[in-house]
Amino acid sequence: KAILLKDYVAPAWWIDTVDLSFDLHEGETIVTARLGIRRNHEVPRGPLVLDGQELELLSVAVGSRPLGPDDYACTPDHLTLNDLPDDGAVVEMVTRIHPESNTALEGLYKSSGNYCTQCEAEGFRKITYFQDRPDVMATYRVRVEANRQAYPVLLSNGNLVDQGDAADGRHWALWEDPWPKPCYLFALVAGKLVHIEDRYRTRSGRDVALRIYVEPGNEDKCGHAMESLIKSMRWDEEAYGLEYDLDIFNIVAVGDFNMGAMENKSLNIFNTKYILARPDTATDTDFLGIETVVAHEYFHNWTGNRVTCRDWFQLSLKEGLTVFRDQQFSADMNSAPVKRIQDVTRLRQVQFAEDAGPTAHPVRPESYIEINNFYTPTVYEKGAEVLRMYHTLLGAAGYRRGIDLYFARHDGQAVTTDDFLAAMRDANPDRAVDWDQFRRWYAQAGTPAVSGEGTYDAPSRTYRLTLRQTLAPTPGQPDKRPMLIPVSMGLVGPDGRDLPLKLAGEDEAVTGTRVLALREAEQDFTFTGVAASPVPSLFRGFSAPVKLSFDYTDADLTFLMAHDSDPFNRWEAGQTLAARLLLGLVADRAAGHDMIVPASFVDAIGQTLSRAGEDPAFTALALTLPSENYLGQLMGVIDVDGIHAARELVRGTIGRSHRASLLATYHGNAGQGAFSVSPEAIGRRAVKNAALAYLMAAGDGEGRALALAQYRTATGMTDVIAALALIADSDMPERADALSAFAAKWRQEPLVMDKWFMIQATSARPETLAEVRALLSHPGFNIRNPNKVYALIGAFTGNAVAFHAAGGAGYEFLADRVIELNRLNPQVASRMAKAFARWRNYDAERQAAAKVALERVAHTPDLSRDVYEIVSRSLEG
Ligand code: ARG
Ligand code: ZN
Repeated sequence: KAILLKDYVAPAWWIDTVDLSFDLHEGETIVTARLGIRRNHEVPRGPLVLDGQELELLSVAVGSRPLGPDDYACTPDHLTLNDLPDDGAVVEMVTRIHPESNTALEGLYKSSGNYCTQCEAEGFRKITYFQDRPDVMATYRVRVEANRQAYPVLLSNGNLVDQGDAADGRHWALWEDPWPKPCYLFALVAGKLVHIEDRYRTRSGRDVALRIYVEPGNEDKCGHAMESLIKSMRWDEEAYGLEYDLDIFNIVAVGDFNMGAMENKSLNIFNTKYILARPDTATDTDFLGIETVVAHEYFHNWTGNRVTCRDWFQLSLKEGLTVFRDQQFSADMNSAPVKRIQDVTRLRQVQFAEDAGPTAHPVRPESYIEINNFYTPTVYEKGAEVLRMYHTLLGAAGYRRGIDLYFARHDGQAVTTDDFLAAMRDANPDRAVDWDQFRRWYAQAGTPAVSGEGTYDAPSRTYRLTLRQTLAPTPGQPDKRPMLIPVSMGLVGPDGRDLPLKLAGEDEAVTGTRVLALREAEQDFTFTGVAASPVPSLFRGFSAPVKLSFDYTDADLTFLMAHDSDPFNRWEAGQTLAARLLLGLVADRAAGHDMIVPASFVDAIGQTLSRAGEDPAFTALALTLPSENYLGQLMGVIDVDGIHAARELVRGTIGRSHRASLLATYHGNAGQGAFSVSPEAIGRRAVKNAALAYLMAAGDGEGRALALAQYRTATGMTDVIAALALIADSDMPERADALSAFAAKWRQEPLVMDKWFMIQATSARPETLAEVRALLSHPGFNIRNPNKVYALIGAFTGNAVAFHAAGGAGYEFLADRVIELNRLNPQVASRMAKAFARWRNYDAERQAAAKVALERVAHTPDLSRDVYEIVSRSLEG
């Protein structure tokens, strides 16, 4: 059942041309496919084996010769044709499919009455028989025919070459994509849609028509997505020298979509969540998410489409690289340090957790049962960190040389992460990088742990830094070898300034930051000419995805918080200090002692608050304590209630102790004139709402009044939802009315209602599970819609105190939902099931309850491969 990387063989036949015709009717769609095939002479002769799923085969012909049932073999998953002519042929097949009953949202399906497709990774086989693998690249010609009135818009990849009327009120459009592509990039849309339009002229003078299609009524929510697209196109030319390659670029936003978006060639299909935004309906996070995801999908045109993956084990070739590119882009458009802190926070929250559990896998996995389970934080976010490490090791210019060589060599091909590494290596022959060791980032799963200490010797003016690395076993990988870890670092002198850095044996000192290569299990770095005892600043900008534990004193951390020239590490020092303090309180509580918040920490937060005016966005992040989930990762056995109690105590203490400056911060950053999503305006809203959250944590009367007033009068959704979330998590008497007023106002806006579901699912109040259960039958909820599932059920699984509540009711609830979703949408079911993965990190009673729930899911009849893989791994690992 498992597919293995080492079993890869090239296909026996190529498919060079694909001619598709879709006859869309209510109740059924007839698909005619004509495949121009040719033998691959590099592998032994074999049959043409086509993949298919849930297809009804109506006819097969080779050339003009219809085949009888004895001429081919048809099983539920494959259509096999023997004895095809060596010099090639056209294979024609007619199949019947039923998009209207497709609840898995894979292949051709309907969303709000409109037809759309999702083919990555293996959805094309639900449309027609095909070699559904990314190394088979073809040019496509697609004819779509449907009722004109119901489906006025007919779209596919490439250029519209012809269109016309057909009998019975029907019409058709013919699309041609000149660029060879794997079938996972195929797309079709037919529906009643409206569009907004703009233009972009590429650097070399190509005029591109840009269109965003949405359901009628949403045309006023597309402006930000269009601006983001234009910025992305310009940025890719400037930063990577990459231009768009067709005269038309279409985006379609649909309300039912399993993931964020999809980079189909020239016809990106998006979850509405990543397109629609108006200041009164979308938060700053939504605006930033749209900018990033629009860029991400656009950037795939080169990193994914022009150069694609040989097989799905190489997924990070396109995803890791494209996430790194969207991170660079968003850093350039906004504040780079703020973006980096947000990206690292996310990496730690989701990817480090994955690495530490039963579903841990390398950036380039070696086996899978269901590839959809591998669209993971490891492949995406850790994959992006691998790209960032190339960039750190080679420098911006060396990295760019590698990128240029990659495209010079591989444009139009389906390649591997090894090919990418080879391009980086060959473009930088003068760089002393051990590439074989670097390659382990793709092969070894798990998060390396780096520890160390430093000693200063005043007489010899030397500073010796000792670093050690270990990598714990992960499922299937008991023994690990040392990684090549780039350590971007500086030594901060007593005056707060970076000291010159000169390693023993070097002639010249480097001022500021330099990159050390940690390659051994333990390694010493001796710096000479160090004038005074320094505090080392390690992994500046988070130069490698590792867990660092360095023997800093609290005073060292406070010093770095104030003085480190690297903003990321200023933030990091504060987080390390906070985590240390919080875990200490958790331990005190577990030992039956009182929890006492040290004054020094409260003072440090006061210092941060007093500098809020200098950089509001950064201050908002520095004021945010490490999340409960992240703190849990730092414990052997996760003390859910202890973590929550400690964190709430600290938040309340800060709220009481700094009441005056919190109020001043609130008022100083409120009411800033015309709405804008500039980084400055977003930063002011963030720090204002962070201050409000502390006041609310302290149960402050004035804070409560401010939250209510903000909820009632704010015009932007960021402020409305920030206030409502605080109210919803409180015992304020106005809570119920505020929630129902919001629902009454926004019931026609599904994306806004998602926020409403989410804030209720994430409340730490003891009633949360009961309320979430009741919300399942709210008219605005629909378990077939992935966004609703993520907003209510997904958000609940991230709510540590509620989901992991003693007694196991949260686990039982989730098992029921996974079993229900398994029948409807295996991809979504499996994503929800992943919340069980770390069950072994809780106490014995919780483990027992989680195991019962997991086993119940495991014994469900007709369990999808998706859910089976996650649940069986969780029970094994
Ligand atoms: N390639 C898409 C992206 O990263 C993700 C599509 C994944 N879809 C899926 N069903 N696995 O932008
Ligand atoms: Zn992607």
